[in-house]
Amino acid sequence: MQNRVKIGMFGYGVVGQGLHDVLLSSRGFRSDIKKICVKDRTKKRRINPEHFTFDRDEILNDDEINLVVELISDAEEAYHIVKRALISGKNVVSANKRMLAQHLPEMIELQKKHNVSLLYEAACCGCIPIIRNLEEYYDNEMLLSVRGIFNGSTNFILSKMYNENSDYATVLKQAQELGYAEADPALDVEGYDARDKLAIISLHAFGLFLDPEEIFTYGITNISPYDLQYAHEKGLKLKLVPTVRKIDESTIASYVIPQFVQPQHFLFNVENEYNGVVTEAAFSNKQFFYGKGAGGHPTGSAVLSDISANSYEYRYEYKKLFQKIETNYTRDIPIEIYYRYHHKKDLDIIPFTDILESYKSREYNFVVGTISLNDLYKLRPQLSTMNVFLARTPEKGVAAEQ
Ligand code: HSE
Repeated sequence: MQNRVKIGMFGYGVVGQGLHDVLLSSRGFRSDIKKICVKDRTKKRRINPEHFTFDRDEILNDDEINLVVELISDAEEAYHIVKRALISGKNVVSANKRMLAQHLPEMIELQKKHNVSLLYEAACCGCIPIIRNLEEYYDNEMLLSVRGIFNGSTNFILSKMYNENSDYATVLKQAQELGYAEADPALDVEGYDARDKLAIISLHAFGLFLDPEEIFTYGITNISPYDLQYAHEKGLKLKLVPTVRKIDESTIASYVIPQFVQPQHFLFNVENEYNGVVTEAAFSNKQFFYGKGAGGHPTGSAVLSDISANSYEYRYEYKKLFQKIETNYTRDIPIEIYYRYHHKKDLDIIPFTDILESYKSREYNFVVGTISLNDLYKLRPQLSTMNVFLARTPEKGVAAEQ
């Protein structure tokens, strides 16, 4: 039975407006947005001002509102809003990946304690229904890995740089204008947005809370034409690929790092703002999910799906968390990387355990070698200050394996 939904909404930015359009054209689903809480009193908005309030209590203290839809970018503020809503017995739909990655353990407790539901499909990979699939389809299947392209802005930037030879600053600006980038685009290009999504996905895939700070994260800010030239010469593409994978029966490892991918790889043809998620499981083997990862309408569509699911009393059961199968997290794994550098001192500080290839020229140098992920993690703060770039080499045996 579908319950009647009275919505109190927070935020009317790219996703809020996208949701509004999606709701207006949705025939099968009737819901009522009673009030929209926004911050900026001076901003011109496309609908009548009477729909808006500037006072969050007008929503949070309204007993008639039974669903709070939180679509703001400020993670700290979102945390307080969502927490208060759950405590006051309201169900919540949120798209705030940063807030969720930081507060998932508490959010799960709050749902249990107050017998309410928090859904957040739109927080991960736009309109790709990955959380629902991990929860429902893979609830008992032994997952081996989840990896993919989880950030539309960086994929847009990498695609335009690779395919059209565009320069980084211009395409970053375009990604902002198209409404793909975060309010602070550093979250996209430094890889933090993909990392936060990876932490959420890891919980649903493997039942382990990962502290985002513990995940080695390296974005695309240092990419140069040399790195793209390397990719072109080898017939590869560069993608920012968050990965979580099983290392043994009870241990997982995760990282966010640019990766060279071969034409046979599922991710090779995922371009622009599209995202792709590749799951690998013991029995179902590989599956590939593909769809728009950013933008108002695709993300609004994921929010609508959660609003609708909520009206049928759908809740995440966090089955993998309660099965407690994967209990350890490690960074103690070897990883093969391409490392572009210009000064010998920048090579000397990288503790490669093995060097497979070395190239020197007047313009740039690179090595391909193996290093411990943990050593890379320790070097991470330094890497940002250096004129170097690193990326994972293509997965081995990818033609057979994709
Ligand atoms: N900035 C995000 C992205 C928005 O580019 O993927 C969707 O989460």
